Parts: sequence; structure tokens; C-alpha cells
Amino acid sequence: MSGPVNKSRRNTIIAVAAVPGALTGAAIVAPLVASLAPSERAKAAGAPVTVDISGLRPGEKLNVEWRGKVVWVMKRTPEQVAAFEAIPASQLTDADSKKSKQPDYVNAKTRSITPELMVMEGVCTHLGCSPTAKLTPGEMGNDWPGGFYCPCHGSKFDLAGRVFTGSPAPTNLTIPPYKVDGMSLVIGVGQDGKEA
Ligand code: FES
Repeated sequence: MSGPVNKSRRNTIIAVAAVPGALTGAAIVAPLVASLAPSERAKAAGAPVTVDISGLRPGEKLNVEWRGKVVWVMKRTPEQVAAFEAIPASQLTDADSKKSKQPDYVNAKTRSITPELMVMEGVCTHLGCSPTAKLTPGEMGNDWPGGFYCPCHGSKFDLAGRVFTGSPAPTNLTIPPYKVDGMSLVIGVGQDGKEA
């Protein structure tokens, strides 16, 4: 971890953890990041959600509700990107995400459009719990590069959402359709801007 991150603010934003079904994430997130909350109408319709990412600093992670699920939006630092890129494929169940759900326009390795901006469903692909952020290297043992840990049955994921071997989760965390336009992130649309 590096970068000029205000820890107290980051800890406030990184609030969702171990929420079975992930549906209650919105209730936790909404008071904290009110400007990110979609309207009731948008939520009801499952419409795309627009997020202002202009204030997102390196190492910070936001939780956004989209179609009843928690979506993590994180600005990964160059060190975090380097850390997950250095993980040997032999330690990952689906290193190239061939069996995992992600749009075909994201990079297969970083699982994102640009390396730094991570947009990922915070729902474990085993039985749907919400994994906990364990972003600091060494937090889960000396060789831990930073990532996410599912407390329900112990699945471990790297900072690209790729599941480590030995985890019960069969595939990587899902990447939703999204588009970035300047400082505006829209979750739920393809690159043509149409709902996906
Ligand atoms: S639901 Fe995550 S490991 Fe089982």
C-alpha cells in the first residue's frame, strides 16, 4: 500500500464486509456516500448507475449499489497493480479469466479497462457472501499480496478479483459492464453507452 491516503476517510468508505447476499450493502453505503446513491426509481428499474470518481484517490475503494448488488470501485495504486501482476498463474484457479464473467473489452490480466480503476462485483462466486477487503500486503500471511477474503468459507481473491487455488469459489469475481467517460463512471452500460 502506498500513496497519500487519508486513512480515517478510507476506513469510513471501506465499510461493507461479510454481508451474505450483499443486498444490505446499500443500506450501509448510502449514508456514507450519499452522492453515489442511485435514485429510488433507478434502483427499482435496475438502471445504470453513474458514479463521480473525481475524488477517488489512490488506494481508495467505494461501494456502490447496482441491481441489488454491491459493486466495488477502487483506484489501485501502481504498486498494487504490480503486486497482482506478479502472482504466478499456478497460484490462480482461472488466471486468464477464461471461465469467469467479465466484459470482453476489459484487459484479461488486469480485468479492467485501465489498470488503476477496478470495477468489480463484491459478491463471492461460491455462495454469494461479500468478501472483506484485505488490501495490505502481509495482512493474510507473509506472502499475501493484498486482495479480498471471503469469511464464509475462506475463498481468497487478488486485487484483480482472481481466485487463488484452494478456495471453494470456482471462478473469479464478476466484472460488470461499465464505461468511463472522464471522471464519470457508468455501471451497467457497454462501450456504446447502451444498457448492458
Ligand atoms: S460464499 Fe465465499 S467462500 Fe463460500
